[in-house]
Amino acid sequence: MKPTTDPRVAPNESPKTYRVKSFGCQMNVYDGERMGELLDEKGLSPAPEGEDADLVVLNTCHIREKAAEKIYSDIGRLTKGKTQKKAPMIAVAGCVAQAEGEEIMTRAPAVSMVVGPQAYHRLPDMLDSAVAGERATDTDMPAIAKFGALPARKRRSPTAFLTVQEGCDKFCTYCVVPYTRGAEISRPFSDLIDEARRLIEAGAREITLLGQNVNAWAGEDDAGRPVGLAGLIRAIAKLDGVERLRYTTSHPNDMEDDLIAAHGEVAKLMPYLHLPVQSGNDRVLKAMNRAHTAESYLRLLERFREARPDIALSGDFIVGFPGETEEEFQDTLAVIDEVRYSQAFSFKYSPRPGTPAATMDNQIPRDVMDDRLARLQERLNRDQRAFNDALVGKTCSILVERKGKLPGQWLGKSPWLTSVWFEGAAEIGDLIEVELVDAGPNSIAGRIPQTANAT
Ligand code: SAH
Ligand code: SF4
Ligand code: F3S
Repeated sequence: MKPTTDPRVAPNESPKTYRVKSFGCQMNVYDGERMGELLDEKGLSPAPEGEDADLVVLNTCHIREKAAEKIYSDIGRLTKGKTQKKAPMIAVAGCVAQAEGEEIMTRAPAVSMVVGPQAYHRLPDMLDSAVAGERATDTDMPAIAKFGALPARKRRSPTAFLTVQEGCDKFCTYCVVPYTRGAEISRPFSDLIDEARRLIEAGAREITLLGQNVNAWAGEDDAGRPVGLAGLIRAIAKLDGVERLRYTTSHPNDMEDDLIAAHGEVAKLMPYLHLPVQSGNDRVLKAMNRAHTAESYLRLLERFREARPDIALSGDFIVGFPGETEEEFQDTLAVIDEVRYSQAFSFKYSPRPGTPAATMDNQIPRDVMDDRLARLQERLNRDQRAFNDALVGKTCSILVERKGKLPGQWLGKSPWLTSVWFEGAAEIGDLIEVELVDAGPNSIAGRIPQTANAT
């Protein structure tokens, strides 16, 4: 930790309430929850909805330029009293903190603490410094140390995230994650079983295993045998109380046979796979350093479909990577037409400082990217709608996650991760049989069949 005494910063009153705002991926959501638990232990409590917080933690994402820039406008609004009446103490965490820690300290004097994704277990000590009027930055990367230093899980929710793997060694040429999150590490098997148990005790019925490259997870089971992600999934599935398992995000190159097999064998493993491809053109994939081809990717998906014919597929796409021609872009459309994704995430290429692609020749003009993204999304929307339409008439189990907008309405997820809403007798956390009756572009309306009972 590097405390800096700044004459502009007066000693602060000890904050009593906090709010963590997480941006970016689910791993940030997980980190945000854990920071909340640390602050709870320190004696703070979450600020009630709609009320000012004494401490605001901005848990940031650096993946695209827009995500990173947003943080400075958020800080501005917080200090000018636009977000809440009283300006709070501000901590910046997450991937922008890691990548631009020093810059944040210079550019935003209102920020008291900057803490990276591998160092946030030290947040309580940094808070003491901040209260004493010292600004503190901690962007060390002591691999895995934070997990041992965090308090026990206690979050109550039917769905829970569990980070099993962190960091990335893939170095795709457009991506900041290897720099902001560091090298790939796997958390130990027994720690993960223990955390899964605690999440279940706190009410989790669905657990999503998280990692930047979750399928690169590797460890040793209790008998000392080497296991991959499939072995971990099989072990967690044996725990009583958990009914659904998911994992995200996978990389095509780390896919083990046993994980594909598990989709056909482990009933609790949900029929859903998020497997980013980024581009459907081999020259572009090579320039991205993806180390797979369009064909090898498609063959991999076929094997998942053989193991679990109803599996829903999802992906990530980047349009306008430097040098991408119209013909090369068409290859991406061809992959979409072949796979027919149930949902997907698509982005315009955004040059990130320090990555190899940022200085490549032939950066694509914005209007070309806009046009390509619109055409790509038209197809993705078409397929998502078709996927939803095809579910109408089926009855499936829905995990109830929250109340809907109208009284008596409930929102939950199907096994294929589609949002489903329905009315009737239910409770948050129920797994309930629902008949799917009407599909929309982003969700499906359902109803409880006359004879069904909540389980
Ligand atoms: N580890 C995952 C996800 C990484 S970040 C993977 O390898 O797929 C999530 C998504 O953001 C990526 O899949 C990619 O589609 C997108 N992304 C990453 N860097 C980007 C950039 N510089 N410009 C645009 N999109 C980007
Ligand atoms: Fe980024 Fe590629 Fe690593 Fe995914 S695999 S986090 S896109 S470098
Ligand atoms: Fe963003 Fe960091 Fe996740 S850059 S996508 S928050 S790993």
